[in-house]
Formats: sequence, C-alpha cells, structure tokens
Amino acid sequence: MRLFVAAPLPVEIKNQLGKLIDDWKKNGDKVGWVKKENLHLTLKFLGETANEQLEPLKSSLTENLRKETTFSFSLSGAGAFPNLNRARVLWVGVTDGKEKLVALAEKVEKATNPLGFPPEERGFSAHLTLGRVKDSRLSEGLLTKLRACAFEAKDIIVSEVVLFQSELAPGGSIYTPLERFELLN
Ligand code: 2AM
Repeated sequence: MRLFVAAPLPVEIKNQLGKLIDDWKKNGDKVGWVKKENLHLTLKFLGETANEQLEPLKSSLTENLRKETTFSFSLSGAGAFPNLNRARVLWVGVTDGKEKLVALAEKVEKATNPLGFPPEERGFSAHLTLGRVKDSRLSEGLLTKLRACAFEAKDIIVSEVVLFQSELAPGGSIYTPLERFELLN
C-alpha cells in the first residue's frame, strides 16, 4: 500500500482552492491539477508500506498524537518548488500557524521513524500542492497569476490527522482515509 499522512481541509477551503485552480487552468499549461476533493496538506509521505506495518503504524500514530490539540493556520499567496523558473510543484503558502504544522509533522516523524520510515531529507516545508507541472516552462499568463496571487484563507482548523492510502489510477490518484486521529479540543 502506498500511504501518506495529511491534515485534511474543510470543504469550504477546498471549494475556494478549486476556484483558484479553475482560474489557473485557463492558461492551458501542462500541469496535473489536484482534484478539489483530493486537496490536503501533506505531513509525511510514507510510500510503499507492507500490510503488516499498518497496525503498528496506526498504534504509533495514536500514541504520538494523543496529546496534540486542535489549531488553525492561514493560507496566503502562491509559489512553486523549486522556483517559478523551473517549476515542478505549484502551491499555496502557509502563513499563520506554520510552526504548529511543523510541530505536528515532527510528531508524525517521531511516530513513523522507529517503524523504519526514513525522516524527510529536505525537512518539512508547509505548503499546499495544487498542481504538479509536466512541462516546467510555464506560460507567461500563469506565471503572472502565480506572482500576483492574492489568495487568502484564514483560521483553517486542523482538528484531525488522517492516514491516507493513495492509489495511482489513470484518471488521477485515489485517496482513501484509512484512519483518523482526532486532536484534542
Ligand atoms: P505534496 O503535497 O507535497 O505534493 C500524496 O501522494 C502526497 O504525498 C502528495 O500530496 C505529496 O505531497 C506527497 N508525495 C508523493 N510522492 C512523494 C515522494 N516521492 N516524496 C515525498 N512526498 C511525496
């Protein structure tokens, strides 16, 4: 199973981001746009995982997340990894609450590293992926939109962490929640 751990997003935020994606799509760039319902904030990509690892993984996440509390964060502006000239991933940035997401991602590392999932080499960088670029030379139109992006969403509540299964399908990835870890109020 291909697994990852993420903070889900409220449906209204997904709808707002869906509209932003629809606007960015208009320029016709070769980008694999994330489907609105699939939008999430990745905390850790676990990759291919043996079935026998699933129960220990759930137990460890339960244990390590049990004292974590609900918090909120904000999204603002847009950008690309590694940069706009050689864009591979198009994202919306996290502003307020970034340190809370970093702390949560660290807890997920702490829960998963002892089970053999290696630490994220590049470190955790809070972002929300909207598209994966297939041809890194983006159109001037889209570049202009990315540079001038005024998207803003405040007080997005994170009240749970979710272990997702990702299945690669011809019509795009299918994400299935396997377990939800509720945060304290
Ligand atoms: P992203 O949000 O930074 O794009 C599910 O596939 C999630 O896991 C993706 O949203 C992606 O995070 C992350 N992911 C997928 N493949 C990855 C890889 N090979 N290395 C690290 N993260 C990956």
